[in-house]
Amino acid sequence: MAQQRQHVAAPEPDRTRRRRGRRGLLLTAAAAAFVFLGVAAVTLTNTFVTYTSTDRFCGTTCHSMTWAAETYTRSPHFDNRVGVRATCGDCH
Ligand code: HEC
Repeated sequence: MAQQRQHVAAPEPDRTRRRRGRRGLLLTAAAAAFVFLGVAAVTLTNTFVTYTSTDRFCGTTCHSMTWAAETYTRSPHFDNRVGVRATCGDCH
């Protein structure tokens, strides 16, 4: 009888230890996934903002902005003696 009880009781601590280990692994994987998603989101946002701030995007992508881009290329903000150029994103 005593031997039988030992057999029944033995697997329990083993199982809980294994369950805790799996939970720890799951938490680590979730943390790693969140960090990866965060880095990916910041990188994508930064790339998107940089791309949409270019004169080419601002001045040619939307039809309604072509006149603004046209006048801009004739203005001193685009072409001047000192060679400094203010882009759409610098002012807007
Ligand atoms: C040197 C700064 C500067 C740059 C560079 C610049 N803008 Fe502007 N923009 C302004 C200012 C100031 C106004 C408001 C005064 C005005 O309407 O003239 C304005 C107004 C506008 C308006 C509204 C005009 C209206 O009559 O309602 C549009 C559209 C515009 N800009 C688009 C652009 C685009 C597209 C570019 C790039 C190709 C650009 N701007 C580059 C300063 C700038």
